[in-house]
Amino acid sequence: MDTTATALHGWAAGEAGRPASPDWTIPQNWAAYTPQEHATWATLYRRQMALLPGRACDAFVDGMRRLPIEPDRIPDFERLSEVLMRHTGWQVVAVPGLVPDDVFFEHLAHRRFPAGQFIRRADQLDYLQEPDVFHDVFGHVPMLMHPVMADFIQAYGHGGLRAQRLGALEMLARVYWYTVEFGLVREAGALRIYGAGIVSSASESRFCLESPSPHRLGFDLARVMRTRYRIDDFQQTYFVLDRLEDLLRLAEIDFAPLYEQVGRLDTLPADAVLPTDAVISRGDGRYHQQRV
Ligand SMILES: [Fe+2]
Repeated sequence: MDTTATALHGWAAGEAGRPASPDWTIPQNWAAYTPQEHATWATLYRRQMALLPGRACDAFVDGMRRLPIEPDRIPDFERLSEVLMRHTGWQVVAVPGLVPDDVFFEHLAHRRFPAGQFIRRADQLDYLQEPDVFHDVFGHVPMLMHPVMADFIQAYGHGGLRAQRLGALEMLARVYWYTVEFGLVREAGALRIYGAGIVSSASESRFCLESPSPHRLGFDLARVMRTRYRIDDFQQTYFVLDRLEDLLRLAEIDFAPLYEQVGRLDTLPADAVLPTDAVISRGDGRYHQQRV
């Protein structure tokens, strides 16, 4: 199962892995990757690239095509950053794995995407305890070439720092989870993937679009802020944007009044369907029922 920890940028970060630098960055040390580590990248890359045509949204495919992300080697963050910087002003910086929330938000607010420096073990291709270079670079970085996502993730960084002060991080984290990590978008008359947690996962790339089990609901900000999510398995609900540009409107909303309003309502389980939901497809829930 490769859905674990995909957005756990800070939640479980301990002090054990703290590097010397205050912003938790480390050198990527690209030359030190072993042939086995590059081979793991190649296996994951090929598996996903075979699955994604017709499933990933155009912005992802386009970003991937224009970046120096190659089949046979772990990407060099400096080369990635050069191209990103020219297009959307972003950089990729290496971190040991999970970083504390405030560090993560500071990076995003300054258009630096912290990416795990390590790659998962070859015998654990579908198991992730912390986001690695494949999840972070293959999953997230192509979308950073899209101006809308570039602005949205920066705004999320600012919003995260503010939500920390307001004690509303949990509500904001659900927005990140159901968009940047597990978001779907309408495109060309179908649903397509833009979330990094999905595009970097072979099994969830199929599950989210093809399984009759999960719900697929129209995105509604206040609804999403109330909705729990799965960190240990596939999602039970996917929220669908009408268009990626809707993220920009999200970035402009003042969340503070919403935190108060939503904070007074019950939190919803990950598989809830409300009478007010815009149901695109109602799942039968079978996948998760069988796993209980
Ligand atoms: Fe992620």
